[in-house]
Amino acid sequence: MSVKIAPSILAANFANLERELKMINASEADWFHIDIMDGVFVPNISFGMPVLAAIQKYAKKPLDVHLMIVDPDRYIETFSDLGAEILTVHYEACTHLHRSLEKIKSFGMKAGVALNPHTPVSSLSNIIQDIDLVCIMSVNPGFGGQFFIDNTYKKIQELKKLIKLNNSSCLIEIDGGVTNYNASELITCGANILVAGSYVFKAKNPTDNIKLLKNV
Ligand code: DX5
Ligand code: ZN
Repeated sequence: MSVKIAPSILAANFANLERELKMINASEADWFHIDIMDGVFVPNISFGMPVLAAIQKYAKKPLDVHLMIVDPDRYIETFSDLGAEILTVHYEACTHLHRSLEKIKSFGMKAGVALNPHTPVSSLSNIIQDIDLVCIMSVNPGFGGQFFIDNTYKKIQELKKLIKLNNSSCLIEIDGGVTNYNASELITCGANILVAGSYVFKAKNPTDNIKLLKNV
């Protein structure tokens, strides 16, 4: 399976969102990565439901929604209505993670779990069989444009082992500071999906950078 590229809309030009979405539609990108931040779980607020509804209207590729919010169970149904195909909650935000994942799947969505940089992969050893996607945060969640944390490579390798051991088909997504410099090592370690915000949207030619990541 070739690597999937998920441009993070957080870095897009919100004054020209329709144009940005159409650019992604026409590119080699696979998914739209949508970062929802509540200013409580992370020290930043991104955007909410009305913006996602606007995205849904134009996006022609799956919506990969990353919830950086406390108590995400309250909004699972809402995000399903807004077209999320993959819904990812944070391990650190869920007291009853198994219940949250079951609820996500009950709406027909793929269930993802994101791990903060300090959260060990082993935290998932008793739930890996219930997860469709693990998002390894390679920066501290909350902001785009940060530097990649090198310990991520080790975490991908550990996660890959855990997935194999459990005969699971769980996908590995990497989120934060992804560029053409680290992409090939991330893929070698076992990454299936690369999220990229600044590397795509702050580029002179975003379509070319998507192509570079896709064919690294
Ligand atoms: C960080 C978000 C990321 C971010 C990635 O909290 O989850 O998805 O937008 O942006 P870059 O690629 O600029 O690090
Ligand atoms: Zn994200």
